[in-house]
Amino acid sequence: MEKLTMFGMPIVFSSQDQKLKVQDNHVNYEDYSRKYSKGMFGLLADCSYAKEDEPYYDFYKAIVDDRVRTKFSDVNLRYDSTVIMEGYAGNEFKKTAGHYHCLIPGKTVSYPELYQVIKGTALFVMQRVNDNAMVEGNMLVEDVILAEVHAGESIVVPPDFGHCTVNIGTGTMVFVNLVSCDSHNSYESVKNSVGMCCYVLRNANGTYRIEKNPHYDFACQPRIVVPADSPILGIKKNMPVYTSFLNAPEIYRYLNDPEGHMADYFSMLKDKQ
Ligand SMILES: [Fe+2]
Repeated sequence: MEKLTMFGMPIVFSSQDQKLKVQDNHVNYEDYSRKYSKGMFGLLADCSYAKEDEPYYDFYKAIVDDRVRTKFSDVNLRYDSTVIMEGYAGNEFKKTAGHYHCLIPGKTVSYPELYQVIKGTALFVMQRVNDNAMVEGNMLVEDVILAEVHAGESIVVPPDFGHCTVNIGTGTMVFVNLVSCDSHNSYESVKNSVGMCCYVLRNANGTYRIEKNPHYDFACQPRIVVPADSPILGIKKNMPVYTSFLNAPEIYRYLNDPEGHMADYFSMLKDKQ
C-alpha cells in the first residue's frame, strides 16, 4: 500500500490491483468504473490496435467525507479521482478518452475544471476548436496547450477547451479533479475526430513526442507549458487541493462562474523552457 498524501484524505494506492483504498469509514465515493482498451477504439493513434481487455483507467466519482459533505454541496462542486495505468497502445501512452464540457446555462462558455496530479506525471492535452459540434469535415484547432504536470502540481482547464489526460511517466498515474456538479461531459466530438488533436507517443528512450492528428486542421502550433502557483485560483504546489478547498471553499466558486477569471487560467500556464 502506498500512502498518497496529496489526496488530503486517508486514501492509499494498492499496487497489487491498481486500486485506491479508502481507510476511513466516513469517506466514500458515489461510483466506480473501469475503462478497458476496447472502449478506446476509435480514439487511438494506431487504428489497428486490437487488444480489447487491457485496463486503461479507473474513475472514482464524487469522493466525499460525510463530515464535510455540505462544504462541497454549498458551492455545487464535486471531487473525483482517476487512475491511469502504465502502458501503451502501440507507441501511444495510455490516456483518458477526452471530452468537452457543456455550456453553463445562460452563458456562452462551458465549465472549467481544476486538476491536481497525486502520483506520477501527466500531460494534459487541452484544445479549443472552431466548432466542436461539427459532424462533417475537419475541425479547425484554434489553440492547443499541452501541460506537463507532476505530482503535487495543478492546472485549470479553461472554459471551452476539450481535454484528455495522458500518463507520460513510469508507473501508474493518479489525479483528482474539482468540477461543478452541473458540468456534463460530451465525448462525441472527440470520437468523431479519432481522438484529441495531438497524440502523445513514446520515443525509444522513454521520452514523449507529439504527433498531430490528421483528422484536424491547425491554425496554431501545439505549445508545451508547465503550471505555476495561482493564489486567486486556489492553487499551490504540494498543497492538496482538497485541503485548500476545505480551508476556503468560496475561492473555488469560479468553477461555476468562470468569466471573471479568464486571464488567470492562461497566466498560470508558463511556456516550458
Ligand atoms: Fe472534464
